[in-house]
Amino acid sequence: MAFFKLKFLNTKALCAMCFLIALLLSPTNAQLSPTFYALSCPTLDIIVRTGMRQAISTESRMAASILRLFFHDCFVNGCDASILLADSATFTGEQNAGPNRNSARGYNVIDNIKAQVEKACPGVVSCADILAIAAKEAVVQSGGPTWAVPLGRRDARTASKSAAESDLPSPSSDLATLTRQFVNKGLSADDMTALSGGHTIGLAQCFTFRNRIYNATNIDNNFATTRRANCPASGGDSNLSPLDSTQTRFDNSYFTGLVNNRGLLNSDQELFNGGSQDALVKKYSTNSLAFVGDFAAAMVKMSKISPLTGTNGEIRKNCVVVN
Ligand code: HEM
Ligand SMILES: *[C@@H]1O[C@H](CO)[C@@H](O)[C@H](O)[C@H]1NC(C)=O
Repeated sequence: MAFFKLKFLNTKALCAMCFLIALLLSPTNAQLSPTFYALSCPTLDIIVRTGMRQAISTESRMAASILRLFFHDCFVNGCDASILLADSATFTGEQNAGPNRNSARGYNVIDNIKAQVEKACPGVVSCADILAIAAKEAVVQSGGPTWAVPLGRRDARTASKSAAESDLPSPSSDLATLTRQFVNKGLSADDMTALSGGHTIGLAQCFTFRNRIYNATNIDNNFATTRRANCPASGGDSNLSPLDSTQTRFDNSYFTGLVNNRGLLNSDQELFNGGSQDALVKKYSTNSLAFVGDFAAAMVKMSKISPLTGTNGEIRKNCVVVN
């Protein structure tokens, strides 16, 4: 970048050239590709698929947990498996950051799949790519869309608890704040709405939606009453409720819920509360194909947030620790 700045000061014409050349040469701008491991690890897809099948049959919620784990990886310095690095006496990672502590789950599933992949193709496939494929499998195995996963990410040697605390969205945030956080990651408000459809699977703990079900006015009365039964005004913080009416099926009922003021989290209902996303939510609530198409495209976009490529980062041997 210093080199680029120098040229910029010298001649404007050269500047454009330098920028292009820098773009082409910089390893961080190498393109991800769905065929990245076609020759080096041809059995990768089947190993991840089988691992996810086993994990989901053991616990159906695991599909949702892995999808969320990928989102929480990508939003903190890019999709670089930083979230998989465990805390130790000498290392503080992201797993105990507020949005992840006692909430993010599925670490073992990725670690186990990685162990299988290492047996087949030692030292070749990054944990970041395994998580990206596993998230796609989570969606497919829940009845959602599929997509070609861009691959070739490398694993971070660092993690950031503070970035996890600042960059991961809060369920109490309003539409403007949520939108700003997605735009900061190169995603649009529409991408955010499609991606929030990830809440078509999975569960949330009482403390994340208590304020809404007791205090909000933009909530269906029967829905609030039902949810209060398992989420008292005080206590029961970790009691679970489904994020939509079909918690293991990847469908558009999250959006029909929103249209009926049955969003569980405040951040969910913000997408249909008289603002810019109302029309898109309404469309998804009646057009499931539009939702799944946009969701898949937005997942590909999210999966490309600042990847480490080329010689940056490393191929971790064990997802829990740096090499
Ligand atoms: C728009 C901003 C978002 C906010 C504020 C948000 C917040 C939350 C919260 C508070 C929970 C419950 C966590 C708990 O109770 O332990 C949750 C669960 C979940 N989130 Fe999000 N989320 C957002 C976007 C996303 C995106 C983009 C995805 C994926 C594409 C996603 C996927 C999930 C899934 C699948 C679950 C259920 C996890 C499980 O059952 O283990 N979320 N989210
Ligand atoms: C409802 O809102 C009030 C005022 O902000 C707050 O003190 C109270 O804790 C809220 N109730 C619940 C159950 O979250």
